[in-house]
Amino acid sequence: MASRLQQSTLKLVNLARTQGLQTALQHATNAIAWHVVPSRREFARNLVQESELARKFDQLHGVDTAGESPLTDVGVPPEKAARGNGLYRGIWPRLFHAALRESRLPLERFTFVDYGSGKGKALMLASAYAFRRIVGMEFAPGLHEVAVRNLRGYRSPQQRCFTMDAVCADALDWEPPAEPLLCFFFNPFDDPTMERVITRVARSWRHAPRDIYLLYVNVRDVREQARVFERHSALTLVGRSRHSLLTKVTAGR
Ligand SMILES: C[S@@+](CC[C@H](N)C(=O)[O-])C[C@H]1O[C@@H](n2cnc3c(N)ncnc32)[C@H](O)[C@@H]1O
Repeated sequence: MASRLQQSTLKLVNLARTQGLQTALQHATNAIAWHVVPSRREFARNLVQESELARKFDQLHGVDTAGESPLTDVGVPPEKAARGNGLYRGIWPRLFHAALRESRLPLERFTFVDYGSGKGKALMLASAYAFRRIVGMEFAPGLHEVAVRNLRGYRSPQQRCFTMDAVCADALDWEPPAEPLLCFFFNPFDDPTMERVITRVARSWRHAPRDIYLLYVNVRDVREQARVFERHSALTLVGRSRHSLLTKVTAGR
């Protein structure tokens, strides 16, 4: 305990020397918050449990989705990585299934699209539902390659949708297919990028009006980004819980 405290203090002193006192203080405040703010403590506890479950999922299905990767380690330039929230983390299955259940949508009518599909975890989980087809789009080449391998090897007795594709593309350039869509977002973008992606989806709706739903999931609380969806003039709110937010495109832009 004493040596951990000593190490942390040394780290802070070093940070203050190299990056300034303000950065060091921000770092210290953040570190303390993980121990005292109840929602952060809950998140940290869940993270440990879910990491273990992710390893079991990988073993069971012969895939590789567990762990976290800074986007700069998987082929994304720093300025783009910052727009993409900086980190790959696979979706937690219980939140994914709860969000789909709460949507009450007739899923067989929709193509499932994962915006920022990482290593394909949400794509594999979505395949347990009878979607028309499943598409994932990911801009980090290092993650996309793993997703392609995972989809090729994935086997599950629960699988009901067998048409799954992963594409390597930036969500800001990617044209959504002209089909009824359930677009899934597991915290992939910062606010301005999310706003631009929603506008792009709405433009696609204007060119080809059809049912398009946006399902946003956040493992801490959707409050972190709900306002971007709720304030967008192209969207109408359908449902909201702590971890998921469902909106429908009702106007083009
Ligand atoms: C939190 S991870 C979610 C991974 C996956 N959806 C899942 O649920 O397991 C967010 C992903 O979004 C990707 N991403 C961020 N910005 C992107 C963009 N502009 N275009 C495509 N992918 C992006 C990141 O590289 C990362 O893999």
